[in-house]
Amino acid sequence: MRKQKLVIGLSAGMLSLALFACQAGRNNPGRIYAPDMYYSRAYDAYSVNLVYPDSMSSRPPVPGTVPRGHTVNAHELLPFNLPQSDSAYAVSGQVKNPLPVITQATLEEGQRLFNIYCAICHGEQLDGQGPLYKSGKFPVQPANFHLPQYLKMPEGTMFYSVTYGKNLMGSYASQLSERQRWEVIAYIKSVQAKDLAKGADSTSVAKK
Ligand code: HEC
Repeated sequence: MRKQKLVIGLSAGMLSLALFACQAGRNNPGRIYAPDMYYSRAYDAYSVNLVYPDSMSSRPPVPGTVPRGHTVNAHELLPFNLPQSDSAYAVSGQVKNPLPVITQATLEEGQRLFNIYCAICHGEQLDGQGPLYKSGKFPVQPANFHLPQYLKMPEGTMFYSVTYGKNLMGSYASQLSERQRWEVIAYIKSVQAKDLAKGADSTSVAKK
């Protein structure tokens, strides 16, 4: 008898709990014990922020900030941060590849990157006959690095063009780190060195 009452009492209790739980509604999160964890007191990254005149909560980095892994601008040694306004300096021939040593591994990495990012236009033979250009879908002839004007092109000019783009060629600054850009240029120059060593009539290489 007692047991029965207990069972009835318990089930009634559970039923009312269940009903109450339903009534509380799905949208009601109930009591919040640590509101700071639910509602950030800091500004959310993309929220409007009236403290700043441009009302952006995400602040741009302070001018001159050097990303981790990048070299501080040391013009003479490591012109990694060649500013766009410094085109005259870039093409002056004074800018040298700053990689301290260029090994076979550097050139292989440069070639690997070149084949991924550049060969579609410039061709794996560096002759400007990449598949995109040959398909007729790209309107202008990409540079043929076997031509005299590119054989004698300073590395700094190449770095500048790869960093900021040149006419129809876009910038590769977001795809390739500065080190990678120099690795690619080291690779192009190593291929060009073979042309120069051969003393071959470079235009015949170009036209083959
Ligand atoms: C979408 C096609 C395309 C891709 C991809 C491309 N280029 Fe070019 N590139 C061109 C064209 C077109 C030119 C000729 C630009 C001009 O002189 O008008 C050019 C020119 C150049 C020049 C000569 C720049 C100068 O100052 O005259 C260099 C160096 C160069 N590219 C390097 C690269 C490297 C390195 C990559 C890969 C990271 C690359 N390009 C990827 C199309 C491309």
